[in-house]
Amino acid sequence: MARVGVLTSGGDAPGMNAAIRGVVRCVSAAGSEVIGIRRGFCGLIDCIMNPLGPRDVANILQRGGSILDTSREPRFLDPALRRQAIRTLERERFDALVAIGGNGTQQGARLLQSEWSGSVIGVASTIDNDLGGTDTSIGFDTACNTALEAIDRIRDTANSLDRLFFIEVMGRKAGFIALEVAVGGGAEAVLLPEVELDTDWLVEVIRSNHERGKISCIVVVAEGAHPGGARGLLLEIDESLQAHGLLGSADARVTILGHIQRGGNPTVRDRVLASRLSTAAARAALSNERGLLFGVRGNKAHATPFDEALAEKKEIDHTLLELVNELAG
Ligand code: F6P
Repeated sequence: MARVGVLTSGGDAPGMNAAIRGVVRCVSAAGSEVIGIRRGFCGLIDCIMNPLGPRDVANILQRGGSILDTSREPRFLDPALRRQAIRTLERERFDALVAIGGNGTQQGARLLQSEWSGSVIGVASTIDNDLGGTDTSIGFDTACNTALEAIDRIRDTANSLDRLFFIEVMGRKAGFIALEVAVGGGAEAVLLPEVELDTDWLVEVIRSNHERGKISCIVVVAEGAHPGGARGLLLEIDESLQAHGLLGSADARVTILGHIQRGGNPTVRDRVLASRLSTAAARAALSNERGLLFGVRGNKAHATPFDEALAEKKEIDHTLLELVNELAG
């Protein structure tokens, strides 16, 4: 009988609970034991954990957040505290650990794997979708749908009042959410951290929309596309908008969607993805495989060594970017 730990770490993502459930049910069905580690790597350092059986994960599949809580734990970068975490794993007789989370989590998991003899397996989960080794990550679809619903609502009021809206979505370093919802929400323009900002181009897009008689104009701005976010960007182009005879920041509106995108019930896609990846990860942990991140490739669970997954720079799809401009017509 094996002892498998499970933790969620970093920014929570809708579908993490479905993934915890997948690990617990799969490991329990194999006659082994699961221990839930609280608050990510903190729980390993400070030994905060409790056993999880199949009934403990009842009724969590549909819930956002993480029943195990999560944390961004910079202390895990300290080798002395990692040794403390490893002492916990050894004292509590763990055979394997499943770490559910994004880039920071998987970097922590890789470090742990290089220093501990047990099996460390990752599950790709971040709303940002910026993790290598996977086409998409748990939570991304839900975050996009939440943002999209908000954009649709904003379009109603923007149309009624003939207004320019800047809508800021999450993504400090990655524009995947912004790009997806810009296409899905019919945005007039989208700004991403991955693409150099050209404010003259943006003003021209807004001007030409106005000239073509478009009633509303929605610009989707990823959090990291401008140092001051959507608000800073609008202030920067205010003068230029007015110089083109357009109403500037006095009449334009900024909506920052913020953490609303991280919560809520996971979509069916995220529940299925979480179930698929977590069970594949649990099976790998039970087989004592080492240092693998489970993601999805072509609708199938796919394992990539941590080093390879973390070295992969996930690129935005430039054809989608072109679509936004083309369809703004
Ligand atoms: O989890 C990813 C993310 O939501 C990013 O999109 C965002 O930039 C960041 O986390 C916000 O982090 P925090 O909740 O710590 O402010």
